[in-house]
Amino acid sequence: MKKTNNKWSQEAYIKAYRFAAERHKGQLVPGTEWSYLAHLSMVSMEIIAALNHETDMDGDLAVQVAILHDTIEDTDTTYEELLSEFGQRVADGVLALTKDKKIEKQHQMSDSLKRIARQPREIWMVKLADRITNLQPPPSYWTTEKMKKYLNQAELILDNLQSGNKLLSSRLNDKIQAYQSYI
Ligand code: NI
Repeated sequence: MKKTNNKWSQEAYIKAYRFAAERHKGQLVPGTEWSYLAHLSMVSMEIIAALNHETDMDGDLAVQVAILHDTIEDTDTTYEELLSEFGQRVADGVLALTKDKKIEKQHQMSDSLKRIARQPREIWMVKLADRITNLQPPPSYWTTEKMKKYLNQAELILDNLQSGNKLLSSRLNDKIQAYQSYI
């Protein structure tokens, strides 16, 4: 059900965080020695900041999907599990954010973006927040070609989803500009 004041609850946050902490345990942020939870904390922080500038958003949906967004893609979590633990909107949102590994790698992002476009704006916000978070200084072992590809993908995300959230789109645009200096 839509909430009018963007409210999210600490209990919903904690429930998702505990689930993600268990599922992602032992995983690190690529190129670092940080727990993968650092990534999830930063993505959910971007969402909470953006919710302050919006109306008519389901805050619990946005926050829970932010925390759970990599569980299907990067852990053994299934859609059905998310469905029974967190309900249909969260499960559908996470699924849309999950790359379909059965299709060719080069088409996985555009396929996911198409599925995200059919989801509520809260899910668009998570994709924007995810790429904002990932546009940090790249790991030293990345080639220029890989960085360029990553930047092109970020531009594709911004092109497709910028109407989803003003604050996040403007932050992603800033990160894209700043990333050029690493290449
Ligand atoms: Ni992510």
